[in-house]
Amino acid sequence: MSDLKELRNRIDEIDDQLTKLFQERMATVEQVAEYKKLNGINTSDPERERKIIEKHLPFVEEKWQPYYQDFQKDLFTLSRKYQDEKNGNDDAFLRYGVDFSTYSDNGFNAGKLAREAMARNPKGTVNATVGSMRNEENEILAFNTVYDTYASIPDSRKASYAGGIQGNPDFCETVFNWVNRLDNIHVPHQVVATPGGTGALSASIANVTNRYESILISDIAWGSYRVMAGQFDLKVETYKLVEDGKVSINDMKIKCQKLMDQQGKVVMIINDPCHNPTGLSMGTELWKELIAFLNELSKQGPITLINDIAYFDYALDYDNATAYMSAFNDISENVAIVIAFSCSKTLTAYGMRVGSAIILAKKQETADHFYNSFLRTARAFWSNVNNGFMDCFVKLVKEHKDEFMAEKKKAVNLLRERSEIFIKEAEECGLPLYPYSEGFFITVHIEDKDLLNRYYENLNKADIYTVKFSSGIRVAICSVSKEKCAGLAKRMKEILDKSM
Ligand SMILES: Cc1ncc(COP(=O)(O)O)c(C=O)c1O
Repeated sequence: MSDLKELRNRIDEIDDQLTKLFQERMATVEQVAEYKKLNGINTSDPERERKIIEKHLPFVEEKWQPYYQDFQKDLFTLSRKYQDEKNGNDDAFLRYGVDFSTYSDNGFNAGKLAREAMARNPKGTVNATVGSMRNEENEILAFNTVYDTYASIPDSRKASYAGGIQGNPDFCETVFNWVNRLDNIHVPHQVVATPGGTGALSASIANVTNRYESILISDIAWGSYRVMAGQFDLKVETYKLVEDGKVSINDMKIKCQKLMDQQGKVVMIINDPCHNPTGLSMGTELWKELIAFLNELSKQGPITLINDIAYFDYALDYDNATAYMSAFNDISENVAIVIAFSCSKTLTAYGMRVGSAIILAKKQETADHFYNSFLRTARAFWSNVNNGFMDCFVKLVKEHKDEFMAEKKKAVNLLRERSEIFIKEAEECGLPLYPYSEGFFITVHIEDKDLLNRYYENLNKADIYTVKFSSGIRVAICSVSKEKCAGLAKRMKEILDKSM
């Protein structure tokens, strides 16, 4: 082992060379910036960046390749930053790289159009945009048991801060028991209360990723995952959710391996059961197969699996909906799981903004590290969670569980009836659907982007409002009455034919 002074001298010499090269590189970048400005060329060229890394990687020792990639990506960012500042493409107020182009949310935009149409043509308009349960009278379903319980919470509790950044201890315990209702999770766990499932998802992403990495999601997925990735300078890799008309984890495995090879770790989100937007559920066997695969892969690096269960309480087979979680007991030390739980759907409490991150790990120490980092995210971003509603959930489960379950069961039955009407008709008329198991949404499967855009516009013209996804049109059966579900698939097929 050489002496530290000697090593530092060597580092100084290397830095001298790097500084000279940096100076030369930036001087060239300056000319590139001028050229791009003159010729109206975009600063960013991700394909060229990818090729540069690909070209140099074989000359870097394998153990340093991930570090080399970060180094090179930082250099790209610096030169883009310089070019954008020089050419006036940035906004000096904002952190470099923040996306300040006009924000547009497919779901909320479509909802606005639908509400306008509803005002002028209430009978003829189908508003299938909203991801909230509506009753047969087209009113938002707000479970009486939930809101009667909420009304019984003293104002002083509603006005108070929560008992801690982590959420009230009785709430965290109630959430864990709610999710672990089959008592089939026996690995160490921690719970942090979050503002909705969204808080649990973004806290997870914030704490387990480094910028420039990729997270893995399904090819058709809730749009907010991409927005979250963008917040942390991440890229998104996708796997095919459906192969040969069935939910499959084959491509998921391939993409996990690819990410592990590229970045030495995997962070993935699985929205299951009752996937948004398709309504697919994986089932216990596929979950077991996946966990076995991840355990093997985790010999190469850490894996964080975020299981988004936003809609799990609307699974048709309530008693067995969480049976797959027994597979979580088999995770290796190098696999961590964060279950993102949301009160929004379970309690029809979308606006209350309450949820939780349930952290599972083989070792208590791992769960504790996640927990402590999540607490800092909570403190920095939302401080604490709606106290009155945490109390409401605890009281509801303790004192009114049976009535609540009966009420929720009616909603699940309503979803089943609506889906049966829609799917039967779709099959009869040949409307192509993603395979649906359960949940709030059914999606018409269309891969051709031009057709998809035309179809979406034509549906709007016919006052059928839906949400457009990357390869489909989502129909929120949670918010369309049985009366309006009847005949809908046939009308949608006719419009699809006309859009061809
Ligand atoms: C797939 C999915 N995950 C998570 C959420 C989180 O919702 P919230 O933040 O209201 O709990 C939603 C809400 O629409 C969703 O569709």
